[in-house]
Amino acid sequence: MPVVAIIGAQWGDEGKGKVVDLLAAKAGVVVRSQGGANAGHTIIRQQKVILHLLPSGILTPKIKCLIGPGVVLDPDAFIEEVKAVEALGVDLKGRLTLDLRTHLVFPTHKLLDACQERARGKEMIGTTSRGIGPAYADKAARHGVRVGDLLDSRQRKKACGKLFDNHAALLKGVFHEEAPDRAAFMEKTEFWAETLKPFTGDTVALLHDALDRNQTIILEGAQGTLLDLDLGTYPFVTSSHPTVAGPIVAMGIPPQRIDSVIGVLKAYCTRVGSGPFPTEMDEKTAKIVRSSGGEFGSTTGRPRRCGWLDLVAAKQVARWNGCTGWAITKLDVLDNLEPIKVCTGYRLGRRNVQNLPAGADQWEAVKPLYEELPSWKKSAGARRWEDIPKAAQNYLAKIESFTGVPIELISLGASQEATILPRGEII
Ligand code: GDP
Ligand code: IMO
Ligand code: MG
Repeated sequence: MPVVAIIGAQWGDEGKGKVVDLLAAKAGVVVRSQGGANAGHTIIRQQKVILHLLPSGILTPKIKCLIGPGVVLDPDAFIEEVKAVEALGVDLKGRLTLDLRTHLVFPTHKLLDACQERARGKEMIGTTSRGIGPAYADKAARHGVRVGDLLDSRQRKKACGKLFDNHAALLKGVFHEEAPDRAAFMEKTEFWAETLKPFTGDTVALLHDALDRNQTIILEGAQGTLLDLDLGTYPFVTSSHPTVAGPIVAMGIPPQRIDSVIGVLKAYCTRVGSGPFPTEMDEKTAKIVRSSGGEFGSTTGRPRRCGWLDLVAAKQVARWNGCTGWAITKLDVLDNLEPIKVCTGYRLGRRNVQNLPAGADQWEAVKPLYEELPSWKKSAGARRWEDIPKAAQNYLAKIESFTGVPIELISLGASQEATILPRGEII
């Protein structure tokens, strides 16, 4: 049975939540392996559910959901999300496991995130203020606190106290901010320990058990490849690896066990926060797309910047992840838009380039080269390939021919029904 990685192919918010929720019906296990509560994955069932930390398989009865060691977990956000899905009648008993190695995000990480952003001034990244950068920094510095540290009372007091004091010194000494009350924080860690305990376990071992039992496994990416800490538009990136490498590094899953890698590619681009965005639209066009695509952050509510589909970037992203197929989302949002442009080259100074820039200054300097393609009236409502307007079929064919990656899924609306699988079932 297959192991399928679902990877964001742009700057996040491509519609990974919908794709994972759809495929989850056929899966045994869904795994979140990186990122934290900066993610916002929307699922439309009878109601709209936005998940930040829980894998997007959680609404599908019986399947197992794992939160692995590569995630940074805000316990308050986790507890709130668990309550919210239970309130929807979702039975979590024995279905949700949180790895003992997963690092914790403290309230002071969020304060530090905000202080660091303020200190960056005009060069602010535009983070989600969820404490992601500071939490991964502490992990890399090897003084982070992990879920497992909470479970033994002495270890909890020691590890949490030490990191809190480190944060308090930073907040005061560097940013001239008072830290929150220490005693109240230590009390909170006790509450975290009690509440998280029933969910804790070894997700790496569980994943390998599932592999041995030949179960279908979905590796759910968070964020998008162009926000990757190493390969993205640094420093305007997140602090984890949203590529297929995410689960390989953090879940102990060997690369050859991953059977397919589906890149989720929105029919246009969006980006939240600052940083290079070569195909960004003029504000008049962006407003139209933002409004018809509902392009406002699922986590922060911020208006998303909108741009034309960047095929140069998509082709590189497919190479880096070894994409075996695309899931093209939000095709319906381009209905009635005229003209339709796609970027098929970059101009850097006097050169045409096809590789994504390695240097930050080059990222700022590249100019997109566009092709105009025929527009169409209405793809929304199509439920078979034949029902998609010819010009939209042509648009999809352009994506396939330019990137060399076949389209496995076409999404034309937020609901599960608004989906076409042109090559048959994915799993
Ligand atoms: P994720 O972070 O990649 O899971 O994406 P988000 O949930 O942050 O953003 C995607 C948004 O687009 C959500 O509001 C989805 O409900 C919505 N969506 C997903 N697929 C489609 C689609 O094909 N058409 C339209 N119109 N909306 C979609
Ligand atoms: P999903 O999983 C879109 C962006 C932030 C900011 C940068 C760094 O829903 O696709 P961070 O808080 O991670 O330190 O912010 O990364 N960002 C996202 N943008 N979708 C996301 O997640 C994102 N997670 C982080 O806007 O530019
Ligand atoms: Mg999102």
